Amino acid sequence: MQSIQKILTFKTLAPIYALALSAGLLGCGGGSTSGSTSTNILITPAGVSEYTTLSLTSLSNYAAPVLPAYYDITVADLDNTPSNNAINDKVATLGRVLFYDKRLSINDTISCSSCHQQASGFDDPRRFSVGFSGAAFTDAHAMRLGNIRYYQPGSMFWDKRAASVELQASQPIQHAIEMGFVAGVGGIPALIAKMNASAYYPDLFTFAFGDATITEARIQQALAQFERAMISVNSRWDAAYAQVFNPNANNRGLGTSLPGLTTQEDRGRQLFIAGPNNGGAGCGACHQPPTFALAANSRSNGLDVGETRIFKSPSLKNVALSKAFMHDGRFASLEEVVEHYNSGIKLGPALDNNRLAPNGMPLRLNLSADDKSALVSFMKTLTDTTLSSDPKFSDPFKK
Ligand code: HEC
Ligand code: HEC
Repeated sequence: MQSIQKILTFKTLAPIYALALSAGLLGCGGGSTSGSTSTNILITPAGVSEYTTLSLTSLSNYAAPVLPAYYDITVADLDNTPSNNAINDKVATLGRVLFYDKRLSINDTISCSSCHQQASGFDDPRRFSVGFSGAAFTDAHAMRLGNIRYYQPGSMFWDKRAASVELQASQPIQHAIEMGFVAGVGGIPALIAKMNASAYYPDLFTFAFGDATITEARIQQALAQFERAMISVNSRWDAAYAQVFNPNANNRGLGTSLPGLTTQEDRGRQLFIAGPNNGGAGCGACHQPPTFALAANSRSNGLDVGETRIFKSPSLKNVALSKAFMHDGRFASLEEVVEHYNSGIKLGPALDNNRLAPNGMPLRLNLSADDKSALVSFMKTLTDTTLSSDPKFSDPFKK
């Protein structure tokens, strides 16, 4: 089969972005594919080529991930994708550019990825993140983004104050500490003017949306699509669970011993899944497998006496890539996290009484040292290095 590929680039806005001309058998469903001659004219606009490594004619697959059997209807039911923003590879590719673009901050120093670093499971290794000034810090710890799509209420931030992934996406840009496009310097309209003057956004928006109009809603949609594509299904736990998953088995096989794990990891799995009445620690009732995103009806976990705020947690997939835990990053290790659940639960209006103070008294697990270590070992099996290294989620910028 002969094929001639020609890459054409345009200095100006080209009306047609990905033109595939095929001489011969275009659209022919059956028949032989060998012996045909096709000519593909592939177009990536000059500005996009100058600034990024993207090829707009060979896009990464964001829209149709390969999912394991246990990501069935029970998981699809948790998907917070709105009907008007299903993932499409073009829009998600634009989202990737936006996610990594420091020009989205007022002084070209900070991108989403500065605080949501892929190698750290899209978390920030620092307890608090430094903003665009280089001197001011966030007052909350950053959050991992894997499996964000399967947090059913769809609300974002530790305190759930953003109603959706879309509505969250433009808030860091306008944040006084994070990216600095506050109202006083023109807010989102000032950012859009900056993007309109760039060498690549008018082309990328045309590619993604069909015309070059840049709006806050489109920025939100693109970022949300890119983030929702960050699905985690490739940890060691996934590989082991895939072997025992059975939709008809008791608890879908989640309570079954996993041969792929060490004895200690498997003991941790058992403690994580089983409830306190069954000799377990009850973690999985809130951090629900197989996504390990938080249950919709989870309340707070008793970090502070008298706490009134109901917090969420990001999915525990890749939690061992984080270096600070909880909304204020107060714990520096998973051992400290486990000790909190073992002996530190405190009463308060926001506490999840059903799960963490079942008799009106804070739950005390009284775990042995071995069992605490086992829980930590189990959480490490949730590390998904595919997600933390997949090129389709990496920085597309050349400069
Ligand atoms: C300066 C650091 C910083 C930057 C830049 C930043 N974030 Fe964040 N991000 C955080 C912190 C800190 C939190 C938690 C804040 C809170 O809950 O109050 C967070 C939370 C989030 C969440 C909520 C996750 C969840 O499970 O609820 C999402 C989504 C998110 N960020 C996406 C983005 C996007 C998209 C951008 C770029 C437009 C961005 N962030 C830029 C630090 C940052
Ligand atoms: C009642 C529901 C509930 C139960 C049960 C529960 N958690 Fe959590 N977990 C949460 C909430 C809510 C947060 C976020 C709290 C915050 O930061 O204010 C959290 C946070 C965490 C974090 C930190 C996540 C991060 O990104 O910083 C880890 C790790 C964790 N839990 C592990 C466990 C383990 C292990 C168990 C069992 C021993 C457990 N959890 C039981 C609700 C629960």
